Amino acid sequence: MELIDGKKTSAEIKQEIAAEVKNIIANGGRAPHLAAVLVGHDGGSETYVAHKIKSCEEVGFKSTLIRYEADVTEDELLKAVDRLNNDNDVDGFIVQLPLPKHIDEQKVIEAIDPKKDVDGFHPTNLGRLVAGLDTFVSATPSGIVDLLKRYNIPTAGKHCVIIGRSNIVGRPLSILMSQKGIDATVTVCHSRTENLKEIARTADILVAAIGKPGFVTADMVKPGAAVIDVGTTRVKSDQTKSGWKLKGDVDFDTVSPLCSYITPVPGGVGPMTICSLLKNTLKAGKQR
Ligand code: GUN
Repeated sequence: MELIDGKKTSAEIKQEIAAEVKNIIANGGRAPHLAAVLVGHDGGSETYVAHKIKSCEEVGFKSTLIRYEADVTEDELLKAVDRLNNDNDVDGFIVQLPLPKHIDEQKVIEAIDPKKDVDGFHPTNLGRLVAGLDTFVSATPSGIVDLLKRYNIPTAGKHCVIIGRSNIVGRPLSILMSQKGIDATVTVCHSRTENLKEIARTADILVAAIGKPGFVTADMVKPGAAVIDVGTTRVKSDQTKSGWKLKGDVDFDTVSPLCSYITPVPGGVGPMTICSLLKNTLKAGKQR
């Protein structure tokens, strides 16, 4: 079994991005600029956004954090999106999800200019992905494909089973994995899937993206499969200072001895998602 080191891979990709930024600036261009909108004080969102901003600094991007309290109105937030759409200095931006219940998330996503939608959440970008056109691929699916490529994990003709059909991970990943050049045969499983265990056991590449800690057990994994764990649920822990730790969707201790490759949580898919966001921002900057 080989551990897929997302931390190391993301550090390598960040170095490549940093070199490209240096090159752009040396040729008279300007640093890409990512803006992030954060609403409220959810612990997870605070951590993710802080990592995104820090990563921008590491690669030489400009970044801006725009904060709102949890009681911001939908109208105020939509106005902020509009300002960012029209801000010539901003190449791309994200609105960190989840948003408070009184705000219609989809409405906010659809208000983002697709050309600045570096999360790739806008229906235009999702649609372009489905059509096989150039687009901003959302961060987690793109990070997973980067990991498979960098670890030379074969995908062509292989059976990729994805557990989870979210618009952020499962569904776009299913499109990406079946695209020409990646060429996997894809099955998407979800809460209504019958015989999930049996289907999972046929996977050469098994992706778990449902947010249920420890859901994938050894009896669901074919020996020699590559297992990608997208779960990052905070669970109580008396071993950490914070009182919690991140737990993946895969029961790592029992599954890892069976696999050819496995991503740990933390340190697997997580760090790669930020790289994808940086790559999309770099691309947005170049396209403007
Ligand atoms: N919340 C969890 N993951 C993400 C992400 O990739 N982008 C945004 N905007 N919010 C998230």
